Amino acid sequence: MVETGGCSAKISPKQLDEILKYLPLYTDPDILVNINTHDDAGVYRVNNDLALVFTTDFFPPVCSDPYEFGQIAAANSLSDVYAMGGTPVIALNIMMFPSAKLPVEAYVDILKGGSDTAFQAGARIIGGHTIDDFPPKYGLAVVGYVHPDNIITNAGARPGDSLILTKPLGTGVILAGQKLGIASDDDINEAKTQMKLLNLTGAEVMKKYNIRGATDITGFGLAGHALKMARASNVTFKINMKSVPLIGNTYSMVEGGCIPSASFRNLDYSEKDTFFASDLDYSLKMIAFDAQTSGGLLISAPSGLTDMIISELQDNGLQNSKVIGRVKEPEKKLLYLNN
Ligand code: CO
Ligand code: CO
Ligand code: CO
Repeated sequence: MVETGGCSAKISPKQLDEILKYLPLYTDPDILVNINTHDDAGVYRVNNDLALVFTTDFFPPVCSDPYEFGQIAAANSLSDVYAMGGTPVIALNIMMFPSAKLPVEAYVDILKGGSDTAFQAGARIIGGHTIDDFPPKYGLAVVGYVHPDNIITNAGARPGDSLILTKPLGTGVILAGQKLGIASDDDINEAKTQMKLLNLTGAEVMKKYNIRGATDITGFGLAGHALKMARASNVTFKINMKSVPLIGNTYSMVEGGCIPSASFRNLDYSEKDTFFASDLDYSLKMIAFDAQTSGGLLISAPSGLTDMIISELQDNGLQNSKVIGRVKEPEKKLLYLNN
């Protein structure tokens, strides 16, 4: 029943920048991460040993099964805490539900899916808020803990680092293909499996290796989030699109013209700061801008550690984890997309 589901429904990043200009930035030494660096979550220091990671995400359905929608929306909301190196602790449900149009069982199933996924993450949902609205939308506001000295931010990428991606791309393409009836059941199931997967393992591996720079890949696509990270870190990212892992038939679907409108919106935002190699394959270029729902982590890791990190990620359920690029000293553009 929805036009665009999941993170594809986000407002355009260009419009968001325009709006955020009008909001005040608070100066408070306990605000450790604010909106200034466009990070995944805000971080607030309570004392020298504890800071709170605070975030919210919600969106319209990405599938017809309400329980699975709840699982995916919750995994996506929790992801921003993981991307900051935090441990999710408590959460609130945020729900918009058309009570006259859908059976109440669907409402219950969405919340069940959310609560089961939060439980899996070790977080407890302790309240929430519902508005009668169409189409339905669901997500969480999440509070996580992090030690103030161990925060992972999008400003922590360093020249010489390697860029690791922990989940394959393609959820936007496959969800659009599903609506057109051209996505295979295998691809749809694989996309759902990836979207339900918590970024918990990735976060644990990052903590173990003392990683300082990461973000999660969601609505602005790989390129959009990479760009925000390169800007916040004052470095240049070089990504090899042929190294980027993809879900099932994502490439051939894009070849065949299945390019969601969110990809063009994301391209429009990122274009001026991105260098496109002259031989860059057009389909791979558009995949770089595909809006991901509950995507993986983009980790900036010292090159000497990447082999160990990759094998640890792969041994713990993230088989698609790969090095997809490098971090360089700042060059003319923030992001370079090569084949
Ligand atoms: Co995020
Ligand atoms: Co978010
Ligand atoms: Co209330």
